[in-house]
Amino acid sequence: MNGNREMTRGFVTGLRAVLDTVGRSPCDVVICPPAHLIGIMADLADGSSIAIGGQDCHVEESGAHTGDIAAEMLADAGAELVIVGHSERRTDHNETSDLVRNKAAAAHRAGLTAIVCLGETESERDSGAALSVVEEQLAVSVPHSCDATNTVVAYEPVWAIGTGRTPTLDDVAEIHAQLRRQLSERFPSGPAVRLLYGGSVKPNNAAKLLAIDNVDGALVGGASLDLRDFLAIIDSCP
Ligand code: PGA
Repeated sequence: MNGNREMTRGFVTGLRAVLDTVGRSPCDVVICPPAHLIGIMADLADGSSIAIGGQDCHVEESGAHTGDIAAEMLADAGAELVIVGHSERRTDHNETSDLVRNKAAAAHRAGLTAIVCLGETESERDSGAALSVVEEQLAVSVPHSCDATNTVVAYEPVWAIGTGRTPTLDDVAEIHAQLRRQLSERFPSGPAVRLLYGGSVKPNNAAKLLAIDNVDGALVGGASLDLRDFLAIIDSCP
């Protein structure tokens, strides 16, 4: 819940200018703004390599759900992706993995790529349950319609989001190896599903996190509000 139209114009124009000058970005760049900025961002990014995504969607295509937004509406506004199951949705709105799976399926129905988020809380990590929590969340949150072209999975330990703290590189590697194994067992294109790490990704730690096996990208929160930091993280992509 950050940003307004003025900030959006400066951010997308600045980002575009750099990516257009470089010729190509070292990675695929997606911006997922609040819903009211999707249309304007999609227009500003039109013809560039920047894709736009939403931060949440409803499971239904339309209907009496005041205040909600359908995946089809996000697509209509110019989004190509949508985040589902972010920890703030799971916590603030009591979203369960069952609901997250239905939202991801709704994204697929609308032709969007679902970015499915999961991750353990601090007490789950401290009690040694991180692997089992993430295993269960992945099993329930990812729908049967998943393939490598329509689904991205983001591991975001809840305690690392917005705190400046990150797991050890070994801990990230362990979780991502498990995610990869699970996805590969369940889906033919599981080995190619992109796995993002998220939670306090900053210019000073991005290169190390992005170099870990099975970490294919980053989900960036706070550092994406500063264009220079965001560009520095893009530059850290191997
Ligand atoms: P952060 O946020 O990068 O500020 O920790 C991550 C997120 O919001 O998913």
